[in-house]
Amino acid sequence: MMSSPVVAIDGPSGVGKGTLAQWLCCKTGFHLLDSGAIYRALAYGVSKEGIDIADVESLVTLAESLPVEFKATSIIYAGDDVTSIIRTEEVAAVASKVAAIPEVRQSLLKRQKDFAQAPGLIADGRDMGTVVFPNANVKLFLTASAEERAKRRVNQLKNQGVSANIAQITQDIMERDERDRTRSSSPLIPADDALIIDTTSLTIQEVCDKAQGALVEAGIDF
Ligand code: DC
Repeated sequence: MMSSPVVAIDGPSGVGKGTLAQWLCCKTGFHLLDSGAIYRALAYGVSKEGIDIADVESLVTLAESLPVEFKATSIIYAGDDVTSIIRTEEVAAVASKVAAIPEVRQSLLKRQKDFAQAPGLIADGRDMGTVVFPNANVKLFLTASAEERAKRRVNQLKNQGVSANIAQITQDIMERDERDRTRSSSPLIPADDALIIDTTSLTIQEVCDKAQGALVEAGIDF
């Protein structure tokens, strides 16, 4: 039996992967894997429980039984709604550090693979097309300049009612990107067979249209 189609969307932070993933989910009716939210939920748990990020054994123990659940519009951690709090820059900084640890990535692998279910999956992350779903039917890799991504992040945070300093956000984004790109385990790189979309001067709709074209070409009609 053919397995359900998987669409991998990778790229750095603030590039618009989440927006594209949600648009594709609405269009296709596929499930969504927001893998960054899993790393963020882990970071939240690490901070909440006061785990030292050098204590790999405790990190892995928490990752293996991470009490996170994805509801329609909210993310629940051990019964608490953490949808907003995991989006803060503080949580993102810890997420980027724990995501660099190979044992942590390994222990979150199965949880991510389990999202691949009928009728299909849109998977948003950094290593969807390279590590988690190397056989994905479509692999998209989004890029944009750091300045453009910082601008988008600031607007996104403002819309969520979170105040933001553009200089600080640009610096945070560049530091986080550098860590995500240069880590030895699952670095942020496009898969050989990924379609690279530079979104710097594209509208959201133009990005969605290009992605739709790639899905149609792969036989995923909608
Ligand atoms: O996409 P995001 O900003 O929510 O991701 C938060 C952090 O998790 C970011 O530093 C990159 C990391 N991450 C990762 O290493 N692998 C993934 N598949 C998704 C996110």
